[in-house]
Amino acid sequence: MRKTIIAGNWKMYKTIAEGSELVNGLKRELIDLEAVDIVVCPPFTLLPLLSDMLTSSNISVGAQDCYWQEEGAFTGEVSCKMIKDSGAKYVIIGHSERRQFFGETNETVNKKIKAALKAGLLPIVCVGETLAEREKNKTFDVLSDHIKNGLADITAEEMEKITIAYEPVWAIGTGKTATPAQAQEAHKFIRDLLEKIFDKETAQETRIQYGGSVKPENTAELINQPDIDGALVGGASLKVDSFAAIVKKASEVTK
Ligand code: PGA
Repeated sequence: MRKTIIAGNWKMYKTIAEGSELVNGLKRELIDLEAVDIVVCPPFTLLPLLSDMLTSSNISVGAQDCYWQEEGAFTGEVSCKMIKDSGAKYVIIGHSERRQFFGETNETVNKKIKAALKAGLLPIVCVGETLAEREKNKTFDVLSDHIKNGLADITAEEMEKITIAYEPVWAIGTGKTATPAQAQEAHKFIRDLLEKIFDKETAQETRIQYGGSVKPENTAELINQPDIDGALVGGASLKVDSFAAIVKKASEVTK
């Protein structure tokens, strides 16, 4: 059984005061909601505070990136050990904005996944095609490349700790959501690929979230698809009302 997971990717938004206010609102709205796993991924500056505020709650905290070295002269980077120490449980790896603006590659994604697992963090690994790639019918090639190379040398046992986020780049922050059928097709492709790389059981157990302009109005139809196990939410995770509504919708339709 795959438990639905709804994660909010706050990106580079929220000061300490704003982040605390958002989390207090979410705690109020989502108290006792256990049907889905709820995660908030704030900027690094908020990790320890929010982890403290959310101790023994039903909401977990995740980072948005990490570096693969444990420590050293790597100015500006934050290690998985430090993220774990902050109280966070999850870490987003390979988001398309990191691939696009910060030179992230499948090779660095792979190193970060291994470091995250070693530190005891649960990676949320992002994959997905650009509009140009979709228009050239390259979607499945790109997904194969991201999955095969990003997950190189990962074992079936390690895979139990990993969530995949399918995020078509053309749907991120654009208001243009993939149709449920388009998203389901990509998720099914990813699950079939996981079965080839690992085994049937691993493929069936791996959670695959959809990301890209998820909002309260489209949550139910996406989560209702057989291979969509949750959402990675950007813009709509920045307000209590919209994020709480997405979590509630997801828990209503949860399989
Ligand atoms: P969006 O972002 O919901 O604002 O499209 C999703 C993401 O980048 O994870």
